[in-house]
Amino acid sequence: MALNLKTLETAAKKGIETAQNLEELDKVFKVFLGRKGQLNQVLRAIPKLAKQKRAKTGKEANALKNSLERMFAKQKIVLQAVRGENQKAGDEWIDVTAPGKKIEIGHLHPITLVQRKMQEIFQSMGFEIASGPEIETEWYNFDALNIPKDHPARDMWDTFWIKTTNNKKPITNNRLLLRTHTSPVQIRYMETHKPPLRIIAPGRAFRYEATDARHGFNFYQLEGLMVGNNVTAANFKAILQEFFRRFFGKPVTIRLRPSYFPFTEPSFEVDMAYDGGWIEIMGAGMVHPNVLKAVNIDPQKWQGFAFGMGIERLAMMKYKINDIRLFYSGDLRFLQQF
Ligand code: PHE
Repeated sequence: MALNLKTLETAAKKGIETAQNLEELDKVFKVFLGRKGQLNQVLRAIPKLAKQKRAKTGKEANALKNSLERMFAKQKIVLQAVRGENQKAGDEWIDVTAPGKKIEIGHLHPITLVQRKMQEIFQSMGFEIASGPEIETEWYNFDALNIPKDHPARDMWDTFWIKTTNNKKPITNNRLLLRTHTSPVQIRYMETHKPPLRIIAPGRAFRYEATDARHGFNFYQLEGLMVGNNVTAANFKAILQEFFRRFFGKPVTIRLRPSYFPFTEPSFEVDMAYDGGWIEIMGAGMVHPNVLKAVNIDPQKWQGFAFGMGIERLAMMKYKINDIRLFYSGDLRFLQQF
């Protein structure tokens, strides 16, 4: 009988472990623990056993019954969980023949594309990229650029001033503003670098002006500065011509027109032949001696040129865009064309 119990136990455990689903488990249960199952047959035979064996076998049979019942209950939970998973998977039926969903990947804004292209061309001509803050001090944006306080030239740049007084008491004597051009980067760079030098400084500038098709209150500029022993306006024109040839992919005609900027002398406006006429694309000139003096560079020894061009203006010409406001509209019909 003891041997019988052992065999029964092994067979029952194997049946429980190998049952693939709840139905199979139920069958195994009936075979071993059912009313007419093997264990009950053992229990029923106990009274017929010899007296001295009865107690021991009875105890063993009952212990086995309990342990098998626990195993069945555990396995039932496992198989129920498996069934639940399969059902869920069945509900989420996948049509493997359906066409895939296109994942939208972003792309660069046209201003960024144009700015990078400009950088690439100037870098290949030996210009380094410099940068400065968008919130500037009055000193860098104006004074150091030879535009003293109360000078009428300040009216050339309508300025967003940042509040630096509290109850009319000045918080700082160096007032803050949103830079009206990228020219302050010239000063910042020359404070820490000595000539010969060649830089460009692309970045955002701000003007307190009404917005229209050609002007925005904020826009991008690319500043250029080259200072050396013998840098002339002829060098300037040659470099610019080469830049435009590469930027537009064909030779471009430009002309210099006399102009005025406080930080260059002489100053010029650069126009480009476009659509049968001329279009103004940048302000430029030979760096004013006072600017060099402001950063402790000897104007007797060094000279150079500077220029500032509008990045949107170039993008508009390259892509034939007629309204600057489109760049800032966030209109996907516009943006997706690039
Ligand atoms: N900073 C000038 C502007 O914004 C452009 C300029 C740059 C002119 C450098 C001359 C030299 O209008």
